Amino acid sequence: MKLKPTLWIAALLLAGTGPALADGDAAHGKIVFGRCAVCHSLDAGKNLVGPSLKGVAGRKSGTVAGYQYSKGMAAAGLTWDDATLDKFLAAPSATVPGTKMLVGLPNPADRADVIAYLKSVN
Ligand code: HEC
Repeated sequence: MKLKPTLWIAALLLAGTGPALADGDAAHGKIVFGRCAVCHSLDAGKNLVGPSLKGVAGRKSGTVAGYQYSKGMAAAGLTWDDATLDKFLAAPSATVPGTKMLVGLPNPADRADVIAYLKSVN
């Protein structure tokens, strides 16, 4: 798969730093999700560059029907919860070797917020 240059610019915009928050702020997470929406929809069955994230909380990794996962993600065997989502978003390739999701979310507070948002629309 070849990513368009615009996606790489979006990836660069994901960089940031800040303190970790204990509980995510779903309202701010909705804004953060704007960065994910380049590649992910929240409509069931609507896969873009990445799989739909509708219902991702509690789902087994690599199991959205009709989406062609990397071998790494297909074999990862994770269940997406707060801890696994945080770890994957912090360092996608280190968490799931071979994943084709190459962009992470370095800011811990942004991760907590986007996870809270995903759960709120799960
Ligand atoms: C540049 C495109 C892109 C962006 C931006 C992106 N992703 Fe992804 N994401 C992907 C791709 C492609 C996959 C499939 C990975 C694979 O098969 O290895 C994926 C997979 C995932 C998965 C695993 C889904 C499953 O069904 O197992 C989660 C969770 C996820 N992304 C969350 C996010 C979140 C949250 C954001 C925003 C912070 C984000 N992604 C931003 C492209 C992207």
